[in-house]
Amino acid sequence: MAFVAVNVLAVPRHAKRSLEERFAARAGEVDGRPGFQRFELLRPADDAHGPEPEGEGEEATDRYLVMTWWDSEADFRAWLDSEEFQRGHARTGAQGPAASGAQVWTFDVVTAREPSEPSAREPGSASTDATSGGHP
Ligand code: HEM
Repeated sequence: MAFVAVNVLAVPRHAKRSLEERFAARAGEVDGRPGFQRFELLRPADDAHGPEPEGEGEEATDRYLVMTWWDSEADFRAWLDSEEFQRGHARTGAQGPAASGAQVWTFDVVTAREPSEPSAREPGSASTDATSGGHP
């Protein structure tokens, strides 16, 4: 089963666009690392995340999640110690941090529904699919 490492970033509101642009132009160094599966940058869908939002107005922070999936914890730990990690975060050092704080949460995947699995549903039952949210 896979291993998931989540970097929880505290991002001041004035820095959200800059953070997202930096990820859009990310180095891609992690992509070829052994055991790396995928990553997602998740923007909070409302501004109420975090137990104690710090600061006022534009200095108030939102919590972004950088989700990473790996074959094993060892693969994740090896990436943290690698040159690819350093190169993938080079601008964090050169431009200063876009985040005002970071915390890593780690998880073992217990059970999952893989996207590549064929659907168990019969054709024509999509309209009753409660998980589709009405999207085509
Ligand atoms: C102090 C800790 C960290 C901060 C402030 C931070 C912030 C950032 C930022 C701003 C970027 C965009 C690229 C850039 O501007 O250089 C980035 C890239 C990335 N970060 Fe972090 N990060 C930290 C640690 C971590 C950790 C522990 C993980 C994994 C759980 C992680 C996962 C990633 C990934 C996958 C990328 C894309 C790298 C690539 O394309 O090679 N980061 N990070």
